[in-house]
Amino acid sequence: MSKIKIRQLTDNDVSAYRHIRLQMLNNHPEAYADSYKETKRQGDDFFLHRINNGAIFAAFDKNEIVATTGFFVPKGEQLQHKSMIWGVYVKPEFRGQGISYDLLQEILTHLPESISLVQLCVVEGNEAAENTYVKAGFEPWGLEEKAICVDGRFYNEKHMVKFLGR
Ligand SMILES: CC(C)(COP(=O)(O)OP(=O)(O)OC[C@H]1O[C@@H](n2cnc3c(N)ncnc32)[C@H](O)[C@@H]1OP(=O)(O)O)[C@@H](O)C(=O)NCCC(=O)NCCS
Repeated sequence: MSKIKIRQLTDNDVSAYRHIRLQMLNNHPEAYADSYKETKRQGDDFFLHRINNGAIFAAFDKNEIVATTGFFVPKGEQLQHKSMIWGVYVKPEFRGQGISYDLLQEILTHLPESISLVQLCVVEGNEAAENTYVKAGFEPWGLEEKAICVDGRFYNEKHMVKFLGR
């Protein structure tokens, strides 16, 4: 784990980010709201917007992105106290080292002071992800039935929250 470095993505990372984002959507369609097909059609502007709308943090092995997680704050004056975490992914060969937990910690320390609570969703039965979120202090508050539909198959999503005590 010592050689893994975590940092926030910048505009210069757009190609590498596009690559890993398409990989996660292709390999785990039920884990994400975006589809591989629609995302593959997007140009750099789309990915740059994601990088700059909130923040995305990535774990690097040498110069290669091996894991990502992002957060954003929803639009709207009355929603500025909460944040959503999204796009949690670790490349298969780097799993089992708690890298997604480390990325979550990084995000939690970089949230603006104005944020009081953080939310995220996890597909029902995704034990590795849910364990990580519980360890990071998230608790479930609801189940959204048929939240995701992939090729006609429905998946339920657990909604989780962490209150930051401010
Ligand atoms: C979810 C994911 C990011 C976790 O990767 P990771 O950071 O390497 O997580 P780890 O493998 O270290 O596992 C985290 C915890 O879950 C446990 N775990 C892992 N696989 C498990 C399984 N199949 N069943 C039960 N527990 C499991 C681990 O033991 C670990 O617990 P610990 O910290 O108490 O030891 C990774 O599996 C992934 O990218 N999956 C595909 C995409 C995805 O599902 N993303 C999440 C979207 S919400």
